[in-house]
Amino acid sequence: MSVSSPVVAIAGATGAVGAEVLSILEQRGFPVGKLVLLASSKSQGKPLSFRGETHVVQLLSAENLRGCDVVFMCCSTTLSRQLSPEAARAGALVIDNSSAFRYEADVPLVVPEVNGAHATSHRGIVANPNCSAAILTVVLAPLAHEAGLARVVVSTYQAVSGKGARAVDELEAQTRAWAEGKPEPHEVFGQPMAFNVLTGDWPIEENGYSNEENKMVVETRKILGLPALRMSATTARVPVIRCHSQSVNLQFERPLTVARAREILASAPGVEILDVPAQRTFPTPRGLAGTDPVFVGRLRDDPSEKNAMNLWLCGDQLRKGAALNAVQIAEMLR
Ligand SMILES: NC(=O)c1ccc[n+]([C@@H]2O[C@H](COP(=O)([O-])OP(=O)(O)OC[C@H]3O[C@@H](n4cnc5c(N)ncnc54)[C@H](OP(=O)(O)O)[C@@H]3O)[C@@H](O)[C@H]2O)c1
Repeated sequence: MSVSSPVVAIAGATGAVGAEVLSILEQRGFPVGKLVLLASSKSQGKPLSFRGETHVVQLLSAENLRGCDVVFMCCSTTLSRQLSPEAARAGALVIDNSSAFRYEADVPLVVPEVNGAHATSHRGIVANPNCSAAILTVVLAPLAHEAGLARVVVSTYQAVSGKGARAVDELEAQTRAWAEGKPEPHEVFGQPMAFNVLTGDWPIEENGYSNEENKMVVETRKILGLPALRMSATTARVPVIRCHSQSVNLQFERPLTVARAREILASAPGVEILDVPAQRTFPTPRGLAGTDPVFVGRLRDDPSEKNAMNLWLCGDQLRKGAALNAVQIAEMLR
C-alpha cells in the first residue's frame, strides 16, 4: 500500500472487534482518507462517530468494498471467505480477523512484535491471529529467543467479549436476572455463563480438543516459526467482560533463571511485567481491560521439570488479541 490517505473499510464495524478497530484508528491517528463502515442489514443506516464526524453504516457487500485500499475484516469466517479474496484482487490490503486464511501457507499470520517481517510477503491478505495465540506469542517469542522453547502447556481464562458483542449483553443480562431471582437468558451461551466457567464453549474436534485449543497450538507454532513445538492447550470461558488471562507452563532447551526471564520481558516490545509478590499485585483482567500491552506476573521456577517455569499473563483480546494487532499490521505496511 503506498497511498498517503487510504480509503479504509471496516467490515463488521458494529461488532466487538470492528468497534475497537474504529476507536484505535482514531486514537493512533491512522491517516484515514475516507472511511467506509459496513455491517449486516440490521445495522444499515446506523450512525457511528469517527474524529467527531458521523458516518453511516452501509451493507457489507463485495460492491461496497470496491475502491478500498485497506479492509479490516471483522466479521465471520464464512463472510471473510466470500469477500476477502475479491477485495484483495481489486487491490485492497485485507487484514482478516477471522480464521478463514490463517492456515494457508502463502498467507502471513502476523504479530508485529514477533514476526512483523513476514507481513511484507502478503499477496493481498494478511491474517490476524486468534486472540489467545496473539497474546501468548508476544510473551513467548523473547523467551524462546533467549533459551529455546521446548514445550508449552497453557490454560486460558477467556473473557466473554471474545465471543462477540452479543455475548457481553447476555452475561450482563444473566447477571441482572440472577440477582433478581429471574430466569436467565441463554441464547448466546446455551447455559449459564454468569458465576460459571465453561470449557465447553467451543466445538470439540476429533482429537478431543476444542477448535480454540487446536487454533492456539497451530497458530503459536506458525507465528513463532517452530512447527515442531511441543504444546497443548486447555481453553475456558469465564464471566469476565474483556481481557483474556492465561496460566502458562514453559520448558526451555537451555537454563533460564526467573531473574533473567524478568529482565528479558521487561524490555520486550508489547510486554509489561506486573509482579509484586509482597503486595500480591499481579495481572487481573478487570484492571487491565482496555490497555495495549500483555501483562506478565507470577513468574516462578517450576521445580518439577528441568529448565521449566510458570507464569500468568493477561492481555486485552479486543486490543492486542484483535484490533490493535490489526491496526499495527496496517501501520507497518503503509
Ligand atoms: N471478539 C474477539 O475478541 C475476537 C478476537 C479475535 C478475532 N475475532 C474474530 O473477529 C471476527 C469478529 O468478531 P466479533 O467478536 O467482533 O463479532 P461480533 O461482535 O458478533 O460482530 C460481528 C460483525 O459482523 C457483522 N455481521 C454479522 N452477520 C453479518 C452479515 N450476514 N452480513 C454483514 N455483516 C454481518 C455484524 O453486524 P451487525 O451488528 O449488523 O449484526 C458485526 O458488525 C470473528 O471472525 C471473530 O472470530 C474476535
